[in-house]
Amino acid sequence: MVVSASAPGKLILFGEHAVVFGEPALSVAINLRIIIEVSPSDRNELDGMPLTRGRHPYLEATLRRAQSDQPISLSIRSEIPQASGMGSSAAVTSSLLACLQALKGSLDRESIARIAFEVEYEVQGRASPIDTTTATHGGGILLLREKGEDFLWEIEKGDSVWFLHGCSLPEMTLVVGSTGLEAATGPLVAGVKALFEREEAARRAIRRIGEISLEGMDALRHRDLSLAGKLMGENHDLLNSLEVGHPMLEEFVQASLPYSYGAKMTGAGGGGSMIALTDRPNRVKEAIEACGGEAFIVTTEPKGVVLEPSI
Ligand code: PMV
Repeated sequence: MVVSASAPGKLILFGEHAVVFGEPALSVAINLRIIIEVSPSDRNELDGMPLTRGRHPYLEATLRRAQSDQPISLSIRSEIPQASGMGSSAAVTSSLLACLQALKGSLDRESIARIAFEVEYEVQGRASPIDTTTATHGGGILLLREKGEDFLWEIEKGDSVWFLHGCSLPEMTLVVGSTGLEAATGPLVAGVKALFEREEAARRAIRRIGEISLEGMDALRHRDLSLAGKLMGENHDLLNSLEVGHPMLEEFVQASLPYSYGAKMTGAGGGGSMIALTDRPNRVKEAIEACGGEAFIVTTEPKGVVLEPSI
């Protein structure tokens, strides 16, 4: 039997890094997907080559944690650039889990989101469930410290607990500017933790980012894009103060601003990508490309992980 599933990439609109400390954050699924096809095999393999922990940490951890005793052969097709802050690893993990569940029976999105988070936490050494729940559920996702409207599920790890909510947002066009520099999330998250433990200014920045997430969500819901853009700028500056910026991100943000409501880095930083909120996406795309970046015009995507007809 061959099964196939797809899951969307994501963009963090507000609150990356602070969310690891339990602060509110807002993310949205985007119209770029990963599609995985799986069939039973006599060993675990990707495109005919054996899967190894060293080369495929997310896939290996997913298979182990899903406790699947049936070895599988898998192939992956991706529209999401890797290590770009667009959530490709969460989309891979969540669509692989959907395939494994489909081999046994039906899909349970909550359990996919839980296992995908455990995988991401294990591989990165520290993580919040924002990427994995967004890839699994689709649409807008709001993380809060307590249960609110449109509650989905709560996820706990160590002394942290995150309450995940669906969040309906107006359809938006965003331009993603990718530096093409692959920055691993784990060390960036560890750097912010060290700063948090050392400096009161870092703790203040993280708390303010949490407030910005809520203010930004309100602004978007009221379609006050100017305010949302201003808050994106403030969030970006605070992320810079947490030392996760990069000169190329800065250049892309500055180049986008004349044609945007606002712009900021998105995801872990240190390279990776930035986003601009705009109604002139082609102008922003050109401006980023003129600085040597790769730019993608994306829209928000309501559909989370789903089974697909086989490739
Ligand atoms: O690198 P990305 O796009 O997967 O984003 C990571 C977001 C962080 O807040 C930095 C880490 C996390 O797990 O929430």
